[in-house]
Amino acid sequence: MTDTHHYHWPHKDLLDVTQLAPADVHHLLDLAETFREINSRPVKKVPTLKGKTVVLFFVENSTRTKTSFDMAGKRLSADTFSLGKAGSSLNKGESLKDTALTLQAMSPDVIVIRHSSSGAAAYLADLLPCGIVNGGDGWHAHPTQALLDSFSLRQVWGRDFSGKSLLILGDIAHSRVARSNMHLLHALGVRVRICAPRTLLPAGVEHWPVEIFSDLRQAVRDVDAVMCLRLQLERQQAGLLPDLSEYARRFCLGAEHLALAAPEARVLHPGPMNRGLEIANDIADAPACLVLDQVSAGVATRMAILYLLAMRNEGGTV
Ligand code: CP
Repeated sequence: MTDTHHYHWPHKDLLDVTQLAPADVHHLLDLAETFREINSRPVKKVPTLKGKTVVLFFVENSTRTKTSFDMAGKRLSADTFSLGKAGSSLNKGESLKDTALTLQAMSPDVIVIRHSSSGAAAYLADLLPCGIVNGGDGWHAHPTQALLDSFSLRQVWGRDFSGKSLLILGDIAHSRVARSNMHLLHALGVRVRICAPRTLLPAGVEHWPVEIFSDLRQAVRDVDAVMCLRLQLERQQAGLLPDLSEYARRFCLGAEHLALAAPEARVLHPGPMNRGLEIANDIADAPACLVLDQVSAGVATRMAILYLLAMRNEGGTV
């Protein structure tokens, strides 16, 4: 555990994992461990954030991130409010700046934003005095997903990730999940591999601290975990993947691939899954697959994030 008497969370906002020191990450994940137990109580509510206000400003679709932030806030007794593009004045042409200033005028403590533009969360963080959480911005970053993924892996690997290896498989080019996980797992001592067709590798990938593969059977050999990514058909321009069945034949994780990984290797997927395209049906439903553990981890991890941002100027107790 981090020494909570000497540790002080220094961040107004959570924009990406690259802003976090290892002590920040360990403190946040330790805090999530303490909050996790609340989620299995008969009465899943504590008064920790009573009187605090959290706005869920989701301009892009979401099931897991939005719902788990909403539950996380409510279970800590914060008041949570949702605003999406549909039903908001963004649809009447109001700018992101004017919408954000309007929300700030109602004195929220934290705004969680998801937006299709990389940099949208950083823009709000510069503009507004309240805490901003990046719930996913374009292809750039998804820090809360990476943190909850590490929380899930801690339940299997323990606190020390050094010596572990993890393969990120699939549509790396369009994936904010891949970018945030690559940074965080590398910082925590994990040897990260990536595997994708050449057209789904991002520019500059040769500078990432990863091993790059194009053959899944080689990539998966002896790894301790595989993180499958959703093929982001909505972000792709024509021509990157002319044949989905050929993609599935080469890059869909199946039992025959997992057999080449380390014994007890686990499978992660941020969801939503395209079964049969990036992950085989039997793997998605296998005990080795942590997908639903990741969803549960999302509530505890986001409770910790809301707590740290909403209480950063107060010496509250958990
Ligand atoms: N993993 C993830 O961000 O899922 P949602 O798009 O459902 O929030």
